[in-house]
Amino acid sequence: METFNIKKLSKPFNIEIDSIASDKSISHRCAMFSLFSNETSYIKNYLTAEDTLNTLSIVEQLGAKITRDGSTVEITPTDKLTEPKDILDCGNSGTAMRLFCGLLASIDGAFTLTGDKYLRERPMKRVADPLRSIGANIDGREEGNKAPLFIRGVKELKPFTYHSPVDSAQVKSAMILAALRANGISKYKENELTRDHTERMLTGMGAKLEIDNEGFINIHPLEGHLKPLNITVPTDPSSGFFFAVAAAITEDSRVVIKNVSLNPTRIEAYQVLKRMGAEVNFIEKENIYEPIGDIEVKHKELNGVVVEDNISWLIDELPALSIAMSVANGKSLVKNAKELRVKESDRIEAVVSNLKKCGVTYTEFEDGYEIIGGTLNKASIDSHGDHRIAMSFAIAGTLCDMEINDVECILTSFPNFKEILDSLYKKRN
Ligand code: S3P
Repeated sequence: METFNIKKLSKPFNIEIDSIASDKSISHRCAMFSLFSNETSYIKNYLTAEDTLNTLSIVEQLGAKITRDGSTVEITPTDKLTEPKDILDCGNSGTAMRLFCGLLASIDGAFTLTGDKYLRERPMKRVADPLRSIGANIDGREEGNKAPLFIRGVKELKPFTYHSPVDSAQVKSAMILAALRANGISKYKENELTRDHTERMLTGMGAKLEIDNEGFINIHPLEGHLKPLNITVPTDPSSGFFFAVAAAITEDSRVVIKNVSLNPTRIEAYQVLKRMGAEVNFIEKENIYEPIGDIEVKHKELNGVVVEDNISWLIDELPALSIAMSVANGKSLVKNAKELRVKESDRIEAVVSNLKKCGVTYTEFEDGYEIIGGTLNKASIDSHGDHRIAMSFAIAGTLCDMEINDVECILTSFPNFKEILDSLYKKRN
């Protein structure tokens, strides 16, 4: 097991970063959605991390021809997806497993989806149940709730009207992908809008998706093939956020995260940092399926904050935000975030147990936590095998020396994280 020993930063930093990992959600979708075309898709800046490379391998196992030169990927689909000769390994990625359930449910063949020991413990009923209700044939461990999942593709899925009890872009996306091959118009509704890359990208490729006046997305089945993708994947705002927090908590520091997705469903954590007192500026530069630009974050004294709305818009950034909350003035509260319990780890438990080691005062709730701001103390913390926990506490280490154990998980989303973190120690104002 690899360990990081992070030293306290002795000087402020002022840095523009253009090498932060590409967007994970968009990269997964590029690989999968290319299968809905009959022409070659061209993707630049594809995320070359474990999760998204696994997705690319699965797409290849399904018959597509893939040419990759670093982060430049060309995907040429086959006329008809082929039944793979082996299991499909999604690694650590819930996004891959859940979206492939929707995509494969109506493909002729048998498919087994599995993943690492963390993914095999995550709930899959949230996609399997609604898919079964429209005729999909999906089974798995623990009464069909856990991977390995076994899918026997059916000829036709029924169109549906589904109001999801869980606000999840993964569930929404799985149902949209299934609906594209159903035999009529399907309707999907969520209580709060979750990240909408699927809707934006599929619409851009020519799919017919529209929102009706009751808030249902109406998904029309495909009439033929979609247009191929020609896309440069933007920087991942969730990966950039670790360095946003680093700048916000380090006196006199500033960071600019370049060419990042400014999709409103993805940048809410930056808005929270702004509410806490940091200076945050968004500079929109272009629009390719979604707004893209730079985000500048400058240190200012931080105050406690209440986070209880729009939770799905900042669910991946809550661990990093907890570090900012730990050094802010006064109390911070995170509520309505029960979904954190079923992420790559139980992130409520992982955050509070590690904060405890750092001497932070907190109260744990079933759906969140309260943190009393103060100082972080040197500690040896455990990543729980979760990339975002490892990276959040590595950022905490810039304020106090910190040992982070079991950091291999960072490779799932942000292979050059440590390199960029090290560069903060080199740059000077
Ligand atoms: C993702 C959706 C979110 C997020 C995950 C990526 C996606 O999960 O936490 O990291 O790409 O659709 P949920 O939709 O299950 O909340």
